[in-house]
Amino acid sequence: MTETSTCRICEGTVRRFVDFGEQPLSDAFRDPSDETEEFFYGLAVGHCSGCDMVQLMEAVPRERMFHEGYPYYSSGSTVMRSHFQTTAARLISEYATGEDPFIVELGSNDGVMLESVARAGIRHLGMEPSASVAEVARSKGVRVREAFFEKATALEILEQDGPADVVYAANTFCHIPYVDSVLAGLGELLVPEGVFVFEDPYFGDVIEKASFDQFYDEHFFLFTATSVAGMARRFGFSLVDVERLPTHGGELRYTLAREGRRTPTLRVARMLQEEARRGLTSPAALRAFADRVRANGDRLVGELRALRDQGKRVVGYGATAKSATVLNFCGIGPDLLEYVCDTTPDKQGRLTPGSHVPVVGHDRFTEAYPDYALLLAWNHADEIMAKETGFRDAGGRWIHYVPEVRVV
Ligand code: SAH
Ligand code: TMP
Ligand code: ZN
Repeated sequence: MTETSTCRICEGTVRRFVDFGEQPLSDAFRDPSDETEEFFYGLAVGHCSGCDMVQLMEAVPRERMFHEGYPYYSSGSTVMRSHFQTTAARLISEYATGEDPFIVELGSNDGVMLESVARAGIRHLGMEPSASVAEVARSKGVRVREAFFEKATALEILEQDGPADVVYAANTFCHIPYVDSVLAGLGELLVPEGVFVFEDPYFGDVIEKASFDQFYDEHFFLFTATSVAGMARRFGFSLVDVERLPTHGGELRYTLAREGRRTPTLRVARMLQEEARRGLTSPAALRAFADRVRANGDRLVGELRALRDQGKRVVGYGATAKSATVLNFCGIGPDLLEYVCDTTPDKQGRLTPGSHVPVVGHDRFTEAYPDYALLLAWNHADEIMAKETGFRDAGGRWIHYVPEVRVV
């Protein structure tokens, strides 16, 4: 794998700071009878000193990741359902104040956010290239266009529906390497005072928690307020608000508006200052991160091997996309995990990508509790701990690997 690549934002030089080797597509759960060759790409992460953006060194073609078989359904978490209801209410009260407001969402998935907008009778459109999840959204009364958002499709929306008051994207903008096209499209689609609100995993949390599994094919960028402010400026926007969110292991919600159209809040300046003080992307911070990743990975495999040698039953909990990075980087397969349980029907009966651990339904977990469960869905820890008290009561123990390896 090369040590440098070209920055997607400023065309400067991106230098690699951590390499996870060959990785499968994180959401390509395999049919056990599938004998076709599995697709792998090189997962390495770099930093651009020109614009401070943290990004993958290699992009996977988007059609390989987002298609009719995409198995991630956003409504699978109760906490996230409630988060998106609150979000819809806020978008409506802050931006749907005109005559006939129009809200667009990128990556609307199964309609988890837009169903509240639809219920409120507000004009909306979800842009969602993955047919599997788009279909579910439609069944909830959400208007969806099955396409990738980019400049060309933005112009089509503008022609058909007119300009948008707000465009929202959760856990989607960081999936898109072609930001120039998306921001150009937003420049066309938004009303003059319109805003683009998006939320994605925060690199500040990744550094703090050494949560290296936030890096996988779909997470092309790991943003900071600093890198987003710079990116916005380059494309005629400015960062006018920023907010911390507790979702998915720590995220930031960013609000962009056309340059000069809205006054940035004090929170933006404070966040930029805080990031400068923390030196989030300094060479020392990036080196320390890479060292912690290796140490935590080694400790995790050591722990799992020791438990196997003691004859313990160990399983994985939550067949998350991010677990592909952990399992494949650490070489954790069916010899160390009996299965991974997950509530998503589309993932059950399949094998985890690359590592080939069987994915089973949640019933398997409760029917005969294992001795240990590796919490792969660590970003949903509160929700999972609250409902799995039976496992604890039966003497079961959780294995965590973020921010470090702990058995509790
Ligand atoms: N917003 C949801 C879904 C996140 S998963 C949530 O926060 O849970 C990311 C979604 O973005 C997938 O459903 C994927 O199909 C979609 N996506 C990927 N590229 C896109 C693009 N260019 N435009 C719109 N959606 C896109
Ligand atoms: P995510 O971390 O990308 O949101 O993926 C979470 C995965 O974990 C998804 O496949 C659903 C699964 N899951 C469970 O199996 N049980 C749970 O209680 C929760 C919250 C998620
Ligand atoms: Zn750059």
